[in-house]
Amino acid sequence: MALTRGATEALQILIAGYNRLRRADVVLYADLDYDSAQYAMAMLKARRGVTVKSFAIPEPTTRASVLDTYRKVLDETPTARLLLLTHLSHRTGLVLPVRDIAAMARSRGVDVILDAAHSWGQLPLDIADLDVDFAGFNLHKWIGAPVGLGFLYIRKGRLADIDVHMGDQDWSAHDIRSRIHTGTLNFAAALTVPAALDLHEAIGVPAKRARLTHLRNYWVERVAHIPSVHILTPNDPLMHAGISSFRIKDKTGQKDTAAIVARLRDEFKVLTVRRGGLAAGECIRVCPAIYTTEPELDRLVAALSAVAAS
Ligand SMILES: Cc1ncc(COP(=O)(O)O)c(C=O)c1O
Repeated sequence: MALTRGATEALQILIAGYNRLRRADVVLYADLDYDSAQYAMAMLKARRGVTVKSFAIPEPTTRASVLDTYRKVLDETPTARLLLLTHLSHRTGLVLPVRDIAAMARSRGVDVILDAAHSWGQLPLDIADLDVDFAGFNLHKWIGAPVGLGFLYIRKGRLADIDVHMGDQDWSAHDIRSRIHTGTLNFAAALTVPAALDLHEAIGVPAKRARLTHLRNYWVERVAHIPSVHILTPNDPLMHAGISSFRIKDKTGQKDTAAIVARLRDEFKVLTVRRGGLAAGECIRVCPAIYTTEPELDRLVAALSAVAAS
């Protein structure tokens, strides 16, 4: 592991630095993957001469449909070499069955770069158990460290497959610190990481997860009867944590979702975020924190009832 300024920097280094690509290779990503990680994957066409292929995760989303989608894409793409996977989507909160997809990829000679920006801290996460060799993490999201902190992970034995960053000469090429040359780091922030981890562990992942899924289920259950509100995130407890997204029927354009977000904010004082990039149209994301309260979610439920009725 080596500290970075966030998951973006970690993923950019892993994607751009992955040096096993040859011209005939294909690299793969899905519509739900994070924008800047998609950009870096797309850049590999110019940088490495590879073919870039993207695909959509189907709606409604189930564990079986996700696994089928990845299996089909991998089977259809025998020259695939690299796959981007997002553990917990920033668009819909979908949690992917990473271990199963990574095993499918590995058996076909495809390496996985895992985007764990949102998952670690919301969910129990054991990188050995997920069995991926490369991953980018945040410390400044669900771990609660100050902004500007994340890290990259490269499995021991795979370091040579990621280029030394910017020709770094401060560290040996056998030392992972040669894979990130940031310049002057905000080391005061970095010094707080142990305190952030202590707090994270004192609360504990099971308690954080239970709180977040309780808050998520609280609002989702209370709007489920509204016919025009479609929840995009599966109720399967293995496929979500705290984040979930919805659509109001037929309101899938950017103007529509921006107007709903503005109304929720201005009229009801509820902060949501519009998210584009999904093949099936825009959605609106609801992201409670562990300190969000039920009365606050009651405001969201009332607001969604009013918005759906108008
Ligand atoms: C899924 C996902 N990946 C990567 C990132 C990038 O994280 P950061 O902006 O902290 O570098 C984010 C940020 O929101 C994200 O949601």
